[in-house]
Order: sequence, then structure tokens, then C-alpha cells
Amino acid sequence: MSHPLSFLLLILSLFFFNSIFTNSTSFSPLCAPNHCGDVGILYPFWLYGDNTTSDKSYCGYKGFGLTCSSADEKPILALPNDTYYVTEIDYIHYTLTLVDIDAANQSCPRVRHNITLGTLPLNFSTSDLNLSFYFNCSSLYPTSVPPIGCLEGYNTNYPSFVFVEGEETAGFDWANICEEKVVAAVMETEIDTSNLSSGGFAGAIKNGFALDWKPLKDCGACESSGGYCGYNNTGEEDKFLCFCRDGSINGEGCKASFI
Ligand SMILES: *[C@@H]1O[C@H](CO)[C@@H](O)[C@H](O)[C@H]1NC(C)=O
Ligand SMILES: *[C@@H]1O[C@H](CO)[C@@H](O)[C@H](O)[C@H]1NC(C)=O
Ligand SMILES: *[C@@H]1O[C@H](CO)[C@@H](O)[C@H](O)[C@H]1NC(C)=O
Ligand SMILES: *[C@@H]1O[C@H](CO)[C@@H](O)[C@H](O)[C@H]1NC(C)=O
Ligand SMILES: *[C@@H]1O[C@H](CO)[C@@H](O)[C@H](O)[C@H]1NC(C)=O
Ligand SMILES: *[C@@H]1O[C@H](CO)[C@@H](O)[C@H](O)[C@H]1NC(C)=O
Ligand SMILES: *[C@@H]1O[C@H](CO)[C@@H](O)[C@H](O)[C@H]1NC(C)=O
Ligand SMILES: *[C@@H]1O[C@H](CO)[C@@H](O)[C@H](O)[C@H]1NC(C)=O
Ligand SMILES: *[C@@H]1O[C@H](CO)[C@@H](O)[C@H](O)[C@H]1NC(C)=O
Ligand SMILES: *[C@@H]1O[C@H](CO)[C@@H](O)[C@H](O)[C@H]1NC(C)=O
Repeated sequence: MSHPLSFLLLILSLFFFNSIFTNSTSFSPLCAPNHCGDVGILYPFWLYGDNTTSDKSYCGYKGFGLTCSSADEKPILALPNDTYYVTEIDYIHYTLTLVDIDAANQSCPRVRHNITLGTLPLNFSTSDLNLSFYFNCSSLYPTSVPPIGCLEGYNTNYPSFVFVEGEETAGFDWANICEEKVVAAVMETEIDTSNLSSGGFAGAIKNGFALDWKPLKDCGACESSGGYCGYNNTGEEDKFLCFCRDGSINGEGCKASFI
């Protein structure tokens, strides 16, 4: 934060979010801030309703709807091919931290799905690192490479391996001797590459990975006029909405009545 402009932006956004938290009614009460467990849920994220509340899909971006699990009060995001716990949403740096539900509760997690972002306005964070898992391989592997020690049900006849993506054994085609390859993202700071296969990957997988979200092009005019953009998808086709600070809802953007 040495750049003066970044600093100004930080102050502005702190002020902006502070005003949301301290007086939610100054924004449209239709989209008041919410939470699930200790994760705050605000635009562009929204909560699916339960029996007593209705979906708030118009309060944020399509695809950014979260389900709050009733059992353990954790928000869940469904990406196109798998579901993830959302452990943190940082509204200042536009990042979120996800943990693969398949792996969340296991001492030796077995990831099952590549992360698929689809067309959502999300991208991997620069703080991530990819791990390549090769599961259920034949015994033709180079003996200098240690198999993953802890995976249950994958006996020594069919070992599995993990590498930092791109650091697989040079000149050896792992995909050729293994049944399945899965790529998982982890936070670079959480991984100890020296003991990956002896279980060093497990803690990092359980701590999840970070994604950046990007403002949608359509929302630019609304957001820069101080509003929240949302969609009404209950009609025939999606209708873009802009929720303004004065409580009005527009299609275009808010009047220039900033604060
Ligand atoms: C919040 O806003 C409402 C209406 O805009 C106002 O009546 C109320 O006093 C405000 N509350 C606080 C704590 O500022
Ligand atoms: C929602 O409704 C279903 C069946 O109608 C019921 O089994 C469930 O307990 C309800 N959940 C809540 C949170 O009320
Ligand atoms: C989604 O997962 C299924 C099965 O796990 C797989 O066959 C399919 O290729 C995956 N799709 C993408 C886009 O990764
Ligand atoms: C996690 O594991 C504990 C103990 O094995 C179990 O009680 C709990 O239900 C599990 N939670 C989930 C979400 O699977
Ligand atoms: C996503 O991030 C990767 C590297 O982290 C970058 O190469 C790529 O251009 C980004 N994609 C978009 C659409 O921003
Ligand atoms: C990890 O894999 C994803 C999907 O293949 C890719 O978009 C991303 O750039 C990779 N990240 C790194 C740090 O290589
Ligand atoms: C591993 O592969 C072998 C042979 O392809 C198969 O018989 C076995 O069921 C697989 N094991 C697992 C745990 O997937
Ligand atoms: C995951 O992605 C890799 C390429 O990055 C691909 O080779 C592999 O088959 C994919 N695995 C699954 C389960 O889709
Ligand atoms: C991996 O190495 C780190 C640091 O050297 C250590 O704290 C951790 O316990 C090791 N993990 C395993 C499973 O050996
Ligand atoms: C969404 O559209 C439906 C039908 O077109 C309408 O009844 C409803 O009031 C709209 N909701 C909002 C928040 O604009």
C-alpha cells in the first residue's frame, strides 16, 4: 500500500463497507447484509433462502449464491463441477477462500474434482499453487519417487502420487501409468514442498485456496454510481437491476446523489 492512490482507495472502501455494516437501511433493505456462521455475506454474494426466507438471487451476481448449511453454519458455494465451503470473503481485496467439501474433514484428503470456474467472474489468486495428484498408478513408477503414504483403500499395488504442478519427474509420463489425474489449488504459504507425499499436502488442502472475483462489465455504471447491481431472474429473462442508496431500483445506474 505504498502507492498514494491505492491508499486513498483503501480508505474509501473502508468507509464504504463501514457504512454498510453500521446502517444497512441506508441501502435497499431488500438486500441487507447477512451472514452465515462468521462469514459476512454482502453484494455481490447472496444467500439462497430456506423455508422461512426467500432466495436473494437479485441481490448479487448470478452464480455467487451461497447456501448456509444448517448443520454447521458454513456457507457453501457450488461451482460448475463441485461444492466448496467458503471460509472467508474479503470485500476489500475482492478475494474469497474456498475449501473442497470432499476434503474438508479428512486427515488424508482425496481430492476428486478439478476446480472448474466455468464462466463465473472468478480467477485463481496469485497466492495459489497447483498440486497434481496421480491416483491409482501401476507399479511401473520410478522407485525414487515416494508414493502418498496415507491414502486408505489405495494399497501398495496401486500407489498414488502428488507433485507441485509442473514439477513431475522429467521425461516420465505419469498420466500413462495412473488411472486418474486431479489438479487441486492450495495457498502457496501453506505448503511444505519437502514432505508433500508424506502428508504435507493434507493441511494445505484443508486450508483451501483463494480466488479473486472481478466486477462484471455490465455492473460498471451501477457500481461506479454507488449502487449494487443485481439481477431479477424470476421473469422470462434476466433483468439487470441497480439498487441505489436512496432505496430506489434502476436499470441504468443511480442518480449522482453520492452520500
Ligand atoms: C440508519 O438510516 C435510517 C434511515 O436512513 C435512519 O433513520 C437511522 O437513524 C440510521 N441509523 C443509524 C444508526 O445511523
Ligand atoms: C423445510 O421444510 C422441510 C419439509 O417441508 C422440513 O423437513 C425442514 O425441516 C424445513 N427446514 C427448516 C429450516 O425449517
Ligand atoms: C466434471 O466432473 C465430471 C466427473 O467428475 C467429469 O467427467 C467432467 O469432465 C468434469 N467437467 C469439467 C468441465 O471439468
Ligand atoms: C467431520 O468428522 C466428524 C468426526 O469424524 C463428524 O462428526 C462430522 O459429522 C463430520 N462433518 C462433516 C461435514 O462431514
Ligand atoms: C487468471 O489468472 C491467471 C494467472 O493467475 C492469468 O494468467 C489469467 O490471465 C487470468 N485470467 C483472467 C481472465 O483474468
Ligand atoms: C492452476 O490451474 C489452473 C487451472 O488449470 C490455472 O488456471 C492456474 O493458472 C494454475 N495456477 C498456477 C499457479 O499455475
Ligand atoms: C486401481 O486400478 C485397478 C486396475 O486398474 C483396479 O482394479 C482397482 O479397483 C483400482 N483401485 C482403486 C482404489 O480405484
Ligand atoms: C484434471 O485436469 C487435468 C489437466 O490439467 C486433466 O489431465 C485431468 O484429466 C483432469 N481430471 C479430471 C478428473 O477431470
Ligand atoms: C512436514 O514438514 C513440516 C515442517 O518441516 C512439519 O511441521 C510437518 O509436521 C511435516 N508433516 C508431516 C506429515 O510429516
Ligand atoms: C422481478 O420480476 C418479477 C416479474 O417480472 C416482478 O414481479 C418482481 O417484482 C421483480 N422483482 C424485483 C426485485 O424487481
